[in-house]
Amino acid sequence: MESLIIDCDPGVDDMVAILLAHHVANVKGIVTVSGNVPVDTTTKNALLATELLQSDTPVYQGSAQPLESEPVHSAHVHGSDGLGGVPRIEHRRRPKAKDGVDFLLEEPTPDDWIVALGPLTNVASAIRRDPSWVNRIRGISLMGGSTTVGNITPTAEFNVYADPEAAACVFESGASIQMCGLNLTHQLLITDETIKELQGIDSDLAQFVTPMLNFLLYRMEALVGRRYAAMHDPCAVLAVTHPALFNFEKQSVHVELCGTLTRGMTVCDQRTTRRREQPNVQVALEIDAETARSLVIGSLKSP
Ligand code: BDR
Ligand code: CA
Repeated sequence: MESLIIDCDPGVDDMVAILLAHHVANVKGIVTVSGNVPVDTTTKNALLATELLQSDTPVYQGSAQPLESEPVHSAHVHGSDGLGGVPRIEHRRRPKAKDGVDFLLEEPTPDDWIVALGPLTNVASAIRRDPSWVNRIRGISLMGGSTTVGNITPTAEFNVYADPEAAACVFESGASIQMCGLNLTHQLLITDETIKELQGIDSDLAQFVTPMLNFLLYRMEALVGRRYAAMHDPCAVLAVTHPALFNFEKQSVHVELCGTLTRGMTVCDQRTTRRREQPNVQVALEIDAETARSLVIGSLKSP
């Protein structure tokens, strides 16, 4: 099994990714970051995931603020608690005392993947403190960016937009990077059919996840007029554990920091001629969505 450290901002799809990751990989720790909701809330949600899983995976709280910009949240999609207001289970779990960035710097071995599912503030902070850290990890599998359209702006995807300086630092770091952007994650959709399938599963995980995903469909319907939603973050887990489900292409990817209309855009060089640079990112272009969806649903059948 692949060994992972998850850096995340749960978030409905982060929660699904955490549950999936515990089913298909060895999860060494979870680090939280400000993103969909403030970091105190993303930390509570990560702890709730470990309670649902009855897992000892340690949770470390990370950055409360982007590196240089003001925090941006996405409560209009995920709800003010990040999880669509679903009922919570009582528990006594707390985050570890160690700071999340310290954990990221100290824990990984060269076999460990960093699976980054939120703004890249913690990962970039680790790189700024020790640029050689990227040589001591297996790689970074991230959900972020897009080769095509954005979501939070016409050109920018939320995780990159929420901390563009951090994303730029990561993309320029020399790390081995796999990117699951919106161009890819929009292929892995859930619909009312998925909800029906989940309703037929008799497990605590499915009972927790079903109303959360139903809330997401309801929000997507209100925001964009359609009852389907992309399972963004699980893609970055599967890109590590099931790479055969993906088609990747190596491209140069850089983050736009200055554009008045394009700040936070991932500029992906998709030209087939005149490319001058060495590509720095394995960009995921296609996923076998049917198999991926059945892996996600299968992970909810038992802890
Ligand atoms: C990304 O932004 C967040 O809202 C999701 O959790 C996902 O990581 C999609 O743009
Ligand atoms: Ca996320």
